[in-house]
Parts: sequence; structure tokens; C-alpha cells
Amino acid sequence: MSESLLLTPGQPKAARYAELHPQVVALTAPEPDRTANLANTAAALRQAFGFFWVGFYLVQGEELVLGPFQGPIACTRIRRGRGVCGTSWAEARTVLVPDVEAFPGHIACSSDSKSEIVVPIVKNGAVVAVLDVDSDKLNDFDHDDQRALEQLMQLAATWF
Ligand code: SME
Repeated sequence: MSESLLLTPGQPKAARYAELHPQVVALTAPEPDRTANLANTAAALRQAFGFFWVGFYLVQGEELVLGPFQGPIACTRIRRGRGVCGTSWAEARTVLVPDVEAFPGHIACSSDSKSEIVVPIVKNGAVVAVLDVDSDKLNDFDHDDQRALEQLMQLAATWF
């Protein structure tokens, strides 16, 4: 496929995710390198939705370590159970945070981040990484984001 995304302007979020998914499949299918695929997935999500920060943290021992991302510089290591990402890892579930100030233990990489969603990538029953998407608007994520991002992370699991 070409190296540009085709997205119809003005579509509702669920429709934009539906347009994006097959393009991420096509973009990543021929490429065996995990880092390249994670990097393009982060870029595609940021380009399609204009999120403040989109990126991956990869499990390494007892920590998550920063992986491919798009956006401002970020914390490099997060311990299991800490912050939103560490909670998603420890509990192996998506964590939707409408207001980061109200999340106990939230790790503030940037004070501009107001809401976020973290989706685990699960391979053979174990979390191997998480996708972290941050918005500079409060309450910017809902179940449409959760459904679509979980589907995308099932694809991402095949890269591990
Ligand atoms: N918000 C995350 C930390 C990572 S940065 O926002 C990029 C958390 O609390 O896990």
C-alpha cells in the first residue's frame, strides 16, 4: 500500500476507526519488524485522530519501557501496577480514564494530558506491552475507542 492514510473527513469516530483498521493491516502485514509496525501504528492513530500522545510501553522484567510513540517526550520506565499503564498491565485490562487528576497514582508525563485510555497487548495469556493514548481534552475516550483499540491491539499481539 502507499505510505499515506486515506481518511474521509468529517466522519464520526467509529467510522474513522473502521476506515483506519484495514489500512493498518495493509501497512503492517508485509513487515516482519515489530518496532516498525508499532511505530507506524502510533503514527497512524495520531494522524487519524490528532491525539496529544500515542505510544507503546513494552514489558521488560518488572517494568514497562517506552517504545515507539508519537508526541512529546515521555517517562521511560513505569513499574508494574503504577499509574494507568502499570495498572492496565497488572490487571490485564483496558483502563479508561476520563480525568487523569482523579486517577490515584496517575503518572503525569505532561500536565497537558487530561484524559487517557490504555489497552494491553496480550500474547498467550500474558501482557507483553500496552498502548497508551493521551488527550489534552477531558473525557475524550469512550467505548467506541475501547472497542476499536482493543481490536487493533489483537492485531499488534501478532507482532510479538
Ligand atoms: N499516563 C501514563 C504515563 C505515561 S505518559 O502519559 C506518556 C500513566 O499514568 O501510566
